[in-house]
Amino acid sequence: MDSWALWSGTGKPFGSKGKWHVKVQDTKNCSIQVYHAEFVVLCIGQFSGLPNIPEFLPNQGPEVFKGKVMHSEDFSALDNSTASELIKTKRITVVGSHKSAVDIAAECANANGVMYPCTMIQRNAHWFFPRDNLSGLLLAFLCYNRFSELLVYKPGETFLLSFLATLLAPLRWGISKFIEIYLRWNFPLKKYGMLPKSSFLEYISSCQIAMLPDKFYDRVEEGSIIIKNSQSLSFFPEGLIINGENRPFETDLVIFATGFKGDEKLKNIFESPVFQNYIIGSPTTTVSLYRQIIHPRIPQLAIIGYSENFSSLGYSEIESVWLSHFLDGNLELPSIRDMEEEANMWADHIKQVTGRYFRRACISNFNIYYNDQLCKDMGYNPRRKKGLLADLFIPYTPTDYSGLTSKLWFLRLDATYPWLPVLMYWRAGELARYAAMLVLHQVNMKSGVVFNPEALKLFAMKKVFDVYSWLQACSSIMFQNLD
Ligand SMILES: Cc1cc2nc3c(=O)[nH]c(=O)nc-3n(C[C@H](O)[C@H](O)[C@H](O)COP(=O)(O)OP(=O)(O)OC[C@H]3O[C@@H](n4cnc5c(N)ncnc54)[C@H](O)[C@@H]3O)c2cc1C
Ligand SMILES: NC(=O)c1ccc[n+]([C@@H]2O[C@H](COP(=O)([O-])OP(=O)(O)OC[C@H]3O[C@@H](n4cnc5c(N)ncnc54)[C@H](OP(=O)(O)O)[C@@H]3O)[C@@H](O)[C@H]2O)c1
Repeated sequence: MDSWALWSGTGKPFGSKGKWHVKVQDTKNCSIQVYHAEFVVLCIGQFSGLPNIPEFLPNQGPEVFKGKVMHSEDFSALDNSTASELIKTKRITVVGSHKSAVDIAAECANANGVMYPCTMIQRNAHWFFPRDNLSGLLLAFLCYNRFSELLVYKPGETFLLSFLATLLAPLRWGISKFIEIYLRWNFPLKKYGMLPKSSFLEYISSCQIAMLPDKFYDRVEEGSIIIKNSQSLSFFPEGLIINGENRPFETDLVIFATGFKGDEKLKNIFESPVFQNYIIGSPTTTVSLYRQIIHPRIPQLAIIGYSENFSSLGYSEIESVWLSHFLDGNLELPSIRDMEEEANMWADHIKQVTGRYFRRACISNFNIYYNDQLCKDMGYNPRRKKGLLADLFIPYTPTDYSGLTSKLWFLRLDATYPWLPVLMYWRAGELARYAAMLVLHQVNMKSGVVFNPEALKLFAMKKVFDVYSWLQACSSIMFQNLD
């Protein structure tokens, strides 16, 4: 493998002699089955599966605590009635101060009120946005359009773009300060020790911006949420000791909203130490992937959804389209050396702009630039809006990329199994999504997908005939079996 100049030896997804051995464990009986695959796509997520739990000195951790301790992921997995039963009339402490923490603190406060306040232990304060239309528009127009990306440096950009970012630096600073003032005006951040130390720009560059639950500060004001600042904590049988306080405080339930170890989970999926080293690199670098999808030195494997974004889910779909183009043979990879150079340049840049959160590979403030690269690779026009001004100033959202689909495989699927829509869960919108892959349509900001009526009529008629003959064939097979 070390001597290869092209990815997987040939630069192609299939055709090499090597195969992945995928071990699958049946969790009921612990038996292991091995499957062989020519290509593996890892969609294992960054924010699930492997919780990040703080480490404690011996006899100072959860083992000495009489109450219950759980991670936010286990709490989210509970159904509504079990969760309400668990938190009812309990003194709850939430460790962490980011999105999961504020969501859970608000949920507990809404359930228990001031009689049983929820304590949130904050190591660092974060910038949060109010959940209203004006704030959403402000964020979108100031931070998620093509113009806002002209204000920031981007990996591998031309000298002209970099020069422009330098020229516009004062505007970038001004926007960051303006948003900080807007957020300070909206929320009593200083009063409750929730004023972040770093600028808004630093936070948005590292995907640390989230929406605050409704009426969060009302709950803080009335005392059903108590915020305590602490850099460390330890358990004692009845509760917790946090730094800065001599007396321990009592609590019944501790919920760690302390995030996940997404990078470690990705590493652990490989049995081979060689691949583990390739994927994780050194502790001071981020996972270095070409187009955030392919590791130059790991053959026949792609990763979808590792890099973080403001809307991770929507953008994973664009990555999937890029990958399907590659798997269809419609896209060529450069040599391993060029891929490595490109991937390392992106990794270095991500590290520079995301600070201590670099492992999460946030590409939020040059996301349109990233999508441009994917579009160009696939031969699509990266400018997804009509008109220069719209393209520059209207915020980009995942729907702008809805036309990018590798439709060939879908046409093949539909031709082979024309009756597939019968088996779909129509109420969940599966049929509409299926139709959108095959029928001419437009995406409207207000109404969503709008089908061309003539094309939709033709599609529906064809499906009726296809399904009718399929049902006839099925019934004759059934009658034959009865005979
Ligand atoms: C509480 C919460 C709310 C969120 N809300 C949003 C939101 O509103 N919008 C947004 O864009 N993002 C949100 N996120 C981020 C979210 O994680 C992702 O956007 C989304 O879930 C990513 O989807 P995914 O399929 O890539 O990963 P996941 O949803 O994490 O799915 C990964 C899957 O891989 C499986 N898996 C993992 N390891 C293995 C293994 N070794 N073997 C077999 N299977 C494995 C897991 O069981 C899981 O089914 C949220 C995250 C959390 C924790
Ligand atoms: N509805 C939604 O959209 C939604 C809801 C929940 C989560 N999410 C997403 O899911 C992802 C994960 O969010 P998350 O909030 O679960 O995790 P997270 O963003 O990783 O935040 C973890 C929090 O725990 C703190 N922490 C970590 N280790 C700690 C330690 N040893 N001691 C004390 N505190 C510690 C962190 O401190 P610092 O402050 O010092 O970093 C941070 O406040 C994010 O992308 C988020 O946007 C989305």
